[in-house]
Amino acid sequence: MRILVTGGAGFIGSHFVRHLAAAGEDVVVLDKLTYSGNPANLEGVAHEFHAGDIADPDAVARAGKGAEAIVNFAAETHVDRSILAAGEFITTDVMGTHVLLEWARESGARFVHVSTDEVYGDLPPGVSSREDDPLRPSSPYAASKAGGDLQVLAYVRTYGVNASITRGSNTYGTHQYPEKMIPLFVTNALEGEPLPVYGDGRQTRDWLHAEDHCAGIETVLREGAPGEVYNVGGGEELENLEVTRRILELTGADPGLVRHVDDRPGHDRRYSLDSSKLAGLGWKPTRGFEEGLAETVAWYRDRRDWWEPIKSGEYRAYYAEQYEARLKST
Ligand code: NAD
Ligand code: TYD
Repeated sequence: MRILVTGGAGFIGSHFVRHLAAAGEDVVVLDKLTYSGNPANLEGVAHEFHAGDIADPDAVARAGKGAEAIVNFAAETHVDRSILAAGEFITTDVMGTHVLLEWARESGARFVHVSTDEVYGDLPPGVSSREDDPLRPSSPYAASKAGGDLQVLAYVRTYGVNASITRGSNTYGTHQYPEKMIPLFVTNALEGEPLPVYGDGRQTRDWLHAEDHCAGIETVLREGAPGEVYNVGGGEELENLEVTRRILELTGADPGLVRHVDDRPGHDRRYSLDSSKLAGLGWKPTRGFEEGLAETVAWYRDRRDWWEPIKSGEYRAYYAEQYEARLKST
């Protein structure tokens, strides 16, 4: 099958491209190569590459020519950046999704839209989100993703587009840009830099390995029904402080590097997904967090050549804006 993977040079997208290429699929990537897109993520992986923006109909038509399916990973993805400036999130996650839907409508291609558990918002202890729960996004990022999801559902109902949505939980693994918690803390620990824990660090996330996430998305691409949403949750809920403790243990870093800093505005305390609907299609996560985190830390330890160049230039400016004042006040 010829499959267009948008955002295929990013973290999860590049795992997915590797996954499809290994299965012998004909993969086309469309990626704008923003700060988080990295051609090095696709080195040695068979694919056709197009540099371009999903919000540009001509770029989508060019890259999409002949594709029978599209899987959309392209997005602005970091909550903290959305709090600093939300404009790009609306352009890509809302407008870009609209352009892709128009293309799917015209071409008749199958469309899988990769979304997030963050659209459900904050959860009290003891409950897990199900696919038909209301959307209560807290951050500009989550709101822009919810906007994309609602358009997808409207295009299925109104135009009969053959689209499904996946909502994955917090994902970790190799090749993740070092701004989200796990790669940021691992690379900081390896460099002897502070680990900035927001607030009390008792927030919980439902951790999912990138390979398990990709297997879930592939299941939905092949078996999912139009108009249906599928949660893809790792099922391993941990407090941020516990994840931090394990990173210190695996890197051998000094526990004195942990710094409690001012909390993220609007910070969701807890996410948790009920993934029984996707389990009904035969999917289940196969990597435990303990094993997956150890493998991830080992990769970052070995691949300084991948992350050290990233942690310069634009990254330093973002890091200073996000953390300098916070770290000074602790
Ligand atoms: P990422 O930031 O690593 O990668 C995003 C990719 O999209 C980059 O290659 C970037 O260059 C590309 N891109 C951005 N704007 C674009 C545009 N306008 N046109 C074309 N390409 C563009 O993100 P990720 O963590 O791999 O996330 C991929 C998808 O999975 C996103 O849709 C995200 O919402 C979703 N998701 C992520 C997580 C997570 O924990 N990382 C969890 C659930 C869902
Ligand atoms: P993050 O990786 O940004 O993912 P998300 O916001 O999508 O859940 O954050 C994971 C958790 O870690 C979240 O509760 C916020 C927290 N966190 C910190 O405590 N410090 C940090 O520097 C970052 C980036 C996140």
